[in-house]
Amino acid sequence: MKLGIVGSGYVGTTVAACFADLGHEVMNVDVDESIVRRLNEGDAPISEPGLGDLLSQYAGSSLFATTDYGDLVDFGPDVIFLALPTPSNDDGSIDTAVVEAGAESLGGVLGDIEDYPTVVVKSTVVPGTTEDVIGPTLELESGGRIGVDFGLATNPEFLREGSAVDDFTSPDKVVFGADDDRALDALESVYAPLLEKSDVSVVRTGLREAEMIKYANNAFLAAKVSLVNDIGNICKEYGVDAYEVAEAIGLDDRIGEQFLRSGVGFGGSCFPKDVNAIVAAAREEGYDPALLQAAIDVNDRQPQRMLDLLDSHVDVSGERVAVLGLAFKPGTDDVRNSRAIPIIEGLQERGASVVAYDPNEGAAAAIRERFPDVEVLASPSPTLSGAVATLVVTDWPAFADLDLEFDLMSGDVVIDGRRIVERRDGITYEGLTW
Ligand code: UGA
Repeated sequence: MKLGIVGSGYVGTTVAACFADLGHEVMNVDVDESIVRRLNEGDAPISEPGLGDLLSQYAGSSLFATTDYGDLVDFGPDVIFLALPTPSNDDGSIDTAVVEAGAESLGGVLGDIEDYPTVVVKSTVVPGTTEDVIGPTLELESGGRIGVDFGLATNPEFLREGSAVDDFTSPDKVVFGADDDRALDALESVYAPLLEKSDVSVVRTGLREAEMIKYANNAFLAAKVSLVNDIGNICKEYGVDAYEVAEAIGLDDRIGEQFLRSGVGFGGSCFPKDVNAIVAAAREEGYDPALLQAAIDVNDRQPQRMLDLLDSHVDVSGERVAVLGLAFKPGTDDVRNSRAIPIIEGLQERGASVVAYDPNEGAAAAIRERFPDVEVLASPSPTLSGAVATLVVTDWPAFADLDLEFDLMSGDVVIDGRRIVERRDGITYEGLTW
């Protein structure tokens, strides 16, 4: 099939490469010339395992990128995905301006695309956005009608950063949302090569249900992390090991063993944004989701608890303090909503001189840019050297091997926010929830 993808961020680029790998011909449209150039050269504009290999394999043969929506007309896609960002407004709600602008530009050429193209919203949008905002924009700009001239569907993604290509290839489920069978069938044809290979659950549902499934999925997982953090905080009060408790409760199938790692909380571009967005949207509709608000509050407090624990051991004013881990999770260069950010801010408020390290150079560079006063170094030893305390914020596996490096510190306090560092003689080790 021929597929158009509007937007070449984490999602658009990953699905473009993965769709090409399923045997489709793909055209990406993005307003950013440098991203388009890199895609056409087969060079991944983001850091994601396996993505570079796929792009170099398919760029120029079955994967093309362009800045011109008009190129879609000659290309003639059967299905066009909108994979544009929906960033947060100050009140937590989503800003749909970029998706709307993309829908406007796409609408401008949609009427000239032959046959019956199906437009699929992949961006994360609150229930009703596809039907009430994107659909009418496409109709207005194209002069055509949904269900008569083109199809409209949603297809939320459940890809994790750092394993997005694997998640695409081996999903737990795929979700297709539309209010008519023709649009659902078009989506099913796109995924057919994947569905034939493995036993994937296919959810065919309505537009609003599919939009809500995405939020419910992320809200549930984020709330699970906050619940395990709340329980972990209780454990800490009792001197109980929250990880032993989590392992035991995870044996109950109804609870499940995943997402039970307590610590400094969740970050990234999805959980914080999506939980805030669905809470804001629900309030707009007249319902106040108390539990999800609590999930946000608990998450916001975990970095503060880490700093309180530090305060209980040492006054860091005028002292050098090391932060290990800057990416929001291991295996990525992404620092968006990383717990390292409130930790660094809290240390600076206390008058500490902050020195930091992350194994990923992209994450290190992003923090250097955001915090010019923070010394971001290239390896753990010089980072720990002379530090009165160390705060571990990301569970990069390499941190488990740190040992003699701690002897370089001027003090001995190590606060572990992720249960990754080995307890050892010579350091005062504090786990956040154990
Ligand atoms: C998340 C979802 O897992 C994906 O299914 C979804 O597609 C994606 O958001 C999205 O909406 O695009 P991601 O943000 O890449 O994926 O990261 P996760 O691996 O889910 O981790 C999120 C955060 O939770 C990280 O900061 C991680 O450290 C934290 N976490 C996770 C914990 O603190 N404890 C756990 O037990 C698990």
